Amino acid sequence: MGEEVCLITGATSGIGKATAMGLASMGASVVMVGRDRGRGEAAMAEIRGKSANASVDLLLADLSSQEEIHRLADVFKESYPRLDVLINNAGVIRSKRIMTADGIEMTFAVNHLAYFLLTKVLLDVLKASAPSRIVNVASGEQRNATIDFDDLQGEKGYKGAKAYSQSKLATVLFTYELARRLEGTGITANCLHPGVVGTNLGSGVSGVFGFMVRALTPLMKSPEKGAETSIYLASSPEVEGLSGKYFIKKAEARSSDVTYDERIASRLWEVSAELTNLPAYNL
Ligand SMILES: NC(=O)c1ccc[n+]([C@@H]2O[C@H](COP(=O)([O-])OP(=O)(O)OC[C@H]3O[C@@H](n4cnc5c(N)ncnc54)[C@H](OP(=O)(O)O)[C@@H]3O)[C@@H](O)[C@H]2O)c1
Repeated sequence: MGEEVCLITGATSGIGKATAMGLASMGASVVMVGRDRGRGEAAMAEIRGKSANASVDLLLADLSSQEEIHRLADVFKESYPRLDVLINNAGVIRSKRIMTADGIEMTFAVNHLAYFLLTKVLLDVLKASAPSRIVNVASGEQRNATIDFDDLQGEKGYKGAKAYSQSKLATVLFTYELARRLEGTGITANCLHPGVVGTNLGSGVSGVFGFMVRALTPLMKSPEKGAETSIYLASSPEVEGLSGKYFIKKAEARSSDVTYDERIASRLWEVSAELTNLPAYNL
């Protein structure tokens, strides 16, 4: 990579941080997004030092807030002339149902709506920079999910694992729908499962399951291994022009049957547009 500008959300920890490190080491200009100044500046300093690349910056935004997502896009566009790669990576699992400042269930807001909205508000600069790429970090958990349109935000009954799986299924459906709508623009959109990776993701999980996740974390894949497919989709000439696919271990894979249902993807798009106050968002 040379002049390319890559924006990565959730770059303060785990897979996102390793992705930022990998792309910085390849010479890209990396814009990390984090919500905490202390964690963000520490990660940025580490990446600048280890990659010997000074073009690593930090922008702050809490992606559970739609106002902050709009502000993030504005600040980005004021500071950078182009955007070659957008990596939507930030994610959470929460045992308890928590609401965002916008009144939306946290898992759905951060893992799905933030990807949807950040992509929308950066589309103009992605289009102007084409060929450009969007990489969405999904999960193998998409296989264990359905989209419950009657209770998208767990109002009737909340389970952290169910909310997480549904949000990751939403990421795959969103990616496929986005790829269809972006045909002919020079922007590609793909998604991936990074594997089972030892990160901070389990820190929001309480009870026995949370204890087990944290106990097993050291035995899981390293964040560097977990970042390989994100880096591949962001940078490899092998996937130039390829769009609307799901990847595992740098290879195209089949996602769950429901992800190929275009009516569900289109309905999810409409609901997501409503929840992000974009009623006429059609691409
Ligand atoms: N680990 C796995 O086994 C696994 C498997 C499949 C998919 N994934 C996916 O991989 C992605 C990265 O997760 P990870 O495993 O690397 O977990 P992680 O270490 O917990 O990293 C998550 C990142 O998201 C950021 N984040 C969370 N909420 C945010 C918010 N409201 N605003 C801005 N940033 C926020 C975190 O920031 P802070 O540092 O401020 O908390 C952190 O940088 C997620 O989408 C996850 O679902 C992970």
